Amino acid sequence: MQWTWGQLCGIFLTAVVSLLLGIAIQLDNTPADNEDWNFRMAESADSNKASFQEKQQSAFVVGYTGEVGKELVKELATSNIFSKVTLLGRRVVEYEDEKLKSLEQKVVDFDKLDEYEDLFKDHDVGFCCLGTTRGKSGVEGFKKVDHDYVLKTAELAKKTGCQHFNLLTSVGANKNSSFLYPRTKGLVESEITDLDFSRLSIYRPSMLLCDRTESRPGEWVLKKLLSPVTYLAPTAISVPTSTVAKAMVNNCVAPPGDKKVEIFENKAIHQISGTLKKK
Ligand SMILES: NC(=O)c1ccc[n+]([C@@H]2O[C@H](COP(=O)([O-])OP(=O)(O)OC[C@H]3O[C@@H](n4cnc5c(N)ncnc54)[C@H](OP(=O)(O)O)[C@@H]3O)[C@@H](O)[C@H]2O)c1
Ligand SMILES: *[C@@H]1O[C@H](CO)[C@@H](O)[C@H](O)[C@H]1NC(C)=O
Repeated sequence: MQWTWGQLCGIFLTAVVSLLLGIAIQLDNTPADNEDWNFRMAESADSNKASFQEKQQSAFVVGYTGEVGKELVKELATSNIFSKVTLLGRRVVEYEDEKLKSLEQKVVDFDKLDEYEDLFKDHDVGFCCLGTTRGKSGVEGFKKVDHDYVLKTAELAKKTGCQHFNLLTSVGANKNSSFLYPRTKGLVESEITDLDFSRLSIYRPSMLLCDRTESRPGEWVLKKLLSPVTYLAPTAISVPTSTVAKAMVNNCVAPPGDKKVEIFENKAIHQISGTLKKK
């Protein structure tokens, strides 16, 4: 029997798709490190929030207008775990929600962040959700935001007495990588680790799922193509931005573990967020 090219291509594509889906489902079912600890953190989130609130701590957020940042701000405002939250950014946003209106916003120039050192003072906890893309800002612009601004934020936080720094990077962050994106993320992780915060939490999400305000056609198409995977293997290659925000809050209120530097990979983010049922 003679196969046509069309049929061969069809068979090949079906095989590739099934293989990828199989790998994703396998990944989705592979346990994360410290899984019990992660689930326990999610289970005790409400009581942790209540006791954390009594400490009357304050926090700052940079990158609060971004997709993850927005969700984080919502979580912080509704959970009310801090007595003060300061939003530091390059522009002021108008919030409609009453709870969000009460948050203090300060405009800073990230190119001269040193001049705003005073704004960093008196914050026990810092959250950094800054980032851009190479497509949007070019190679130099990407390095400037995802490395320079992020590092400078951490340096000022450390200098002004921040005890717990929460850093959003990415899956695959590795300072030895030959690719720009993971290398930049890994480098900044490593330099911030060297600042020696009392507690440093690093979150490394995979593909972020959200209705992005800004149009990124390539990302949109990729997400549509991968939607069967994100549906059938939810923790394998993606995470909703709201889940990342919940994970950051749940970890922040949890008593610190025995390591000063905690790294949460994509699956752990799902687990500590409380949005995932234990299998
Ligand atoms: N997209 C993904 O699938 C994915 C996956 C893994 C990890 N990540 C990482 O996760 C982080 C957050 O992602 P996201 O999608 O929430 O980011 P986003 O929506 O692009 O938001 C980025 C934030 O950084 C700020 N920012 C960007 N360029 C700036 C500049 N030149 N000066 C001052 N502020 C600037 C933005 O402020 P404005 O609102 O004023 O622009 C915004 O608050 C990023 O570091 C990203 O690399 C993303
Ligand atoms: C990077 O390379 C250095 C030196 O070879 C090595 O010690 C380190 O473990 C590597 N780091 C990562 C994240 O691979």
